[in-house]
Amino acid sequence: MASRYIEVKDDNQVRDALSFGREEGLNILILGGGSNMLFHSNFEGLVVKIASRGIQVLNDDGRVLEVVAEAGEMWHHFVMHTLESGWGGLENLALIPGCVGASPMQNIGAYGVEIKDVFSWLEAINIESGECVRFHLEDCKFGYRESIFKLEEKGKWVIVRVAFRLDRQSELKTGYGALESELSEISKTQITHTDVANAVVKIRNSKLPNPDILGNAGSFFKNPVIDHNVFSDLELNYPEIPNYPQIDGTVKLAAGWLIDQAGWKGHSRGTHGVHDKQALVLVNRGGASGQEIWQLATDIMISVEQKFGITLEPEVNQIGMI
Ligand code: EPU
Repeated sequence: MASRYIEVKDDNQVRDALSFGREEGLNILILGGGSNMLFHSNFEGLVVKIASRGIQVLNDDGRVLEVVAEAGEMWHHFVMHTLESGWGGLENLALIPGCVGASPMQNIGAYGVEIKDVFSWLEAINIESGECVRFHLEDCKFGYRESIFKLEEKGKWVIVRVAFRLDRQSELKTGYGALESELSEISKTQITHTDVANAVVKIRNSKLPNPDILGNAGSFFKNPVIDHNVFSDLELNYPEIPNYPQIDGTVKLAAGWLIDQAGWKGHSRGTHGVHDKQALVLVNRGGASGQEIWQLATDIMISVEQKFGITLEPEVNQIGMI
């Protein structure tokens, strides 16, 4: 149980909450949707829930526009709003749980698109000074499920709004295998941004459990990126191994496949287990503690390491880890 909980709706309320936490000497946890966190123990301190709302168009040349969303907007709601307005760019990122403010933290991505591809800037309040600073694309140092806010600037900022550069005529990105085959079912000459979003929603619903119904934090691990030589050795033993060569010569593997091959898919420990349709997702059916989920994650990491010599890295944020 958190000791204190405050909902904040604008920048001044964020600053007030931060000063209160400082004055009381409390640990502060900034909470967006909370969909990408594993609590190892109860959090003792001040939980600041970002509850700001608002979507605004800043510039519009009739084709390309800059749209800013407040951090507390639900991500999927925001994506659907952009599509209903005829703005393209976020369609591949439909149905990702969580809030707008959390999206740049880990450069959310799905079906061949990451937010860095349409990101313009964000504003964040410094936890120590209360100063609001604008970060542009290059400042954020986005990488695969990474940003400066998860690395050197971790725990220093509260993201309060994010701006995106959207395009009414943006090119559709439909190259991701599962998406391509889902879209090939549509008998229509002109596929729209909304058709892509609908296909993404269909695929996600078929593979990923809805966190409102079955507790989960999405992909629990990152897809490992390995050296090309290590990959060549692996491929000799596992010719069918899914792999995604990267521009820098490294190779990204599918953690879900590795976990599946190690025999974990559908594994159950009563209250919790491994999802039966996507082995990268750990599920809490109700009642499992954060430590129990972590024990399962650790067992999976050891098993994948033993079978493939690959070290998995959690993608989910670990809170209160001892
Ligand atoms: N696979 C298996 N067994 C499984 C799961 C996957 O064999 O149990 C194989 C699939 O057949 C496929 C490959 O692994 O060949 C990749 O699977 P999938 O297309 O489902 O994507 P993923 O790499 O497992 C990533 C993201 C997801 C994102 C999808 C689609 C990460 C850590 N995960 O998953 O993101 O939705 O691609 O782009 O990068 C998230 O971050 O929470 C998340 C759900």
